[in-house]
Amino acid sequence: MTCHKIEPLDPDKIKTNLNTNRIGREILVYNRTSSTNDIARRYAEDSNNDGLVIFAEEQTAGRGRAGNKWHSNRSDGILCSILLTADKTNPELLSLACAVAVAEAIGKPTGSRLKIKWPNDIMLNGKKVAGILLEAKPSNSGNIYIVGIGINCHQQKNDFPAELQQIATSIDIESQSVADRIRLAKRLVCSLDHWLETANKNKKEVTDRWYELSYQLDHRVTLLFNGKKFTGNCIGIDPEKGLILQLDTGGIRMFDAAHTTIAK
Ligand code: BTN
Repeated sequence: MTCHKIEPLDPDKIKTNLNTNRIGREILVYNRTSSTNDIARRYAEDSNNDGLVIFAEEQTAGRGRAGNKWHSNRSDGILCSILLTADKTNPELLSLACAVAVAEAIGKPTGSRLKIKWPNDIMLNGKKVAGILLEAKPSNSGNIYIVGIGINCHQQKNDFPAELQQIATSIDIESQSVADRIRLAKRLVCSLDHWLETANKNKKEVTDRWYELSYQLDHRVTLLFNGKKFTGNCIGIDPEKGLILQLDTGGIRMFDAAHTTIAK
């Protein structure tokens, strides 16, 4: 458990001088909920709720990709979901834009390495500091997306379950200071607003930034696609079709995020 005093998330403080166009027009903070993605889903039928952001201090059933749980002790992290109604962006590009937005919001503590491990992990000094869970809900007017984001802020090594202690980290661990969650929440909302708009206007800008931040580019990657294993060199990203590998078995193939898991 952490022992420093932590400032609670306050929607009014997060909204102050936010100046975003789309994301964060409404911001709600829950004290405790099952999952912020579940709350966002309840608002999904009304397109006026586009851009709604839900934060929580605590989740009782936080979830990650591939059926994993998302662990975060009370007030130790940023747990949030963004609702996008009637969105025309394809899921691959949306996933890239969200990863770039979260990475930029976290920023790079001096002397550290900040990277995106496709599809949804943000890495600080080679360990996972944040994850993104993108859930889609088909609708008549375009896709409804719920972008769930978990950022580890105040955790110390022992706060993570034993099996994650070597592979997970927090902003406090890597920066050797205490993260300001309200400032981070504001940066996150602004960064998402910027990169989701950019994805709609100029997808090359998103992929260019993704290339700069990529953990896997020019490295060997082993992944499971629909349960089948593939290994190769990562040679790029396609904003519609996903990660591009030069396969060891020959040929070039693309893998979309929805059906792919990176092998450990
Ligand atoms: C992953 O890395 O597997 C994705 C983790 C996403 C966790 C966040 S926390 C807020 C939102 N609510 C959830 O239940 N999950 C996401």
